[in-house]
Amino acid sequence: MIRTFAWSDYPATAQLWQATGRDVMPEEELRATLTHGPDLMLVAADADAGITGAVLGTFDGRRGWIHRLAVQPEHRRKGLAAALVGELERRLSARGAPRINLLVMPDNTEGLLFWQRLGYLSCPDVLCTKLMPAQG
Ligand SMILES: CC(C)(COP(=O)(O)OP(=O)(O)OC[C@H]1O[C@@H](n2cnc3c(N)ncnc32)[C@H](O)[C@@H]1OP(=O)(O)O)[C@@H](O)C(=O)NCCC(=O)NCCS
Repeated sequence: MIRTFAWSDYPATAQLWQATGRDVMPEEELRATLTHGPDLMLVAADADAGITGAVLGTFDGRRGWIHRLAVQPEHRRKGLAAALVGELERRLSARGAPRINLLVMPDNTEGLLFWQRLGYLSCPDVLCTKLMPAQG
């Protein structure tokens, strides 16, 4: 079942991110992120296996973004990630996002194949980033 994330899912979701090599978003950071879109974090929940997949979406008022997609290795190739992303796309579209972006590491061949299958095309933009000094 694909449903909106609840805070009681956080420990299992953090475990999922850790088990699949994704950065674990600290609870405080996730709470701040979800303030702007509490319905944009989705989980795949199984009555026996618990949380088998998760994805986080954000909308900056102009673009939708997809982050932290992960599915438990033993539950892959059953369409769970496609279902999570499909529902997130519906929710982002309903908010008015005309385009959805995401970042994938260039060596993540499986991830790139998955995104291509769903119609996400790589583009030549270069990501530029700056680490800001801590405040206070
Ligand atoms: C990428 C990932 C989320 C896919 O999850 P999944 O639930 O297995 O994906 P789905 O079953 O919905 O796959 C849909 C389609 O994507 C493609 N696909 C998915 N995984 C693939 C793989 N390992 N190799 C090639 N194609 C793949 C296939 O076309 C698949 O359809 P098919 O099974 O009918 O052939 C999962 O492998 C994962 O969690 N990987 C680690 C984290 C990660 O890389 N996240 C995404 C990067 S941002």
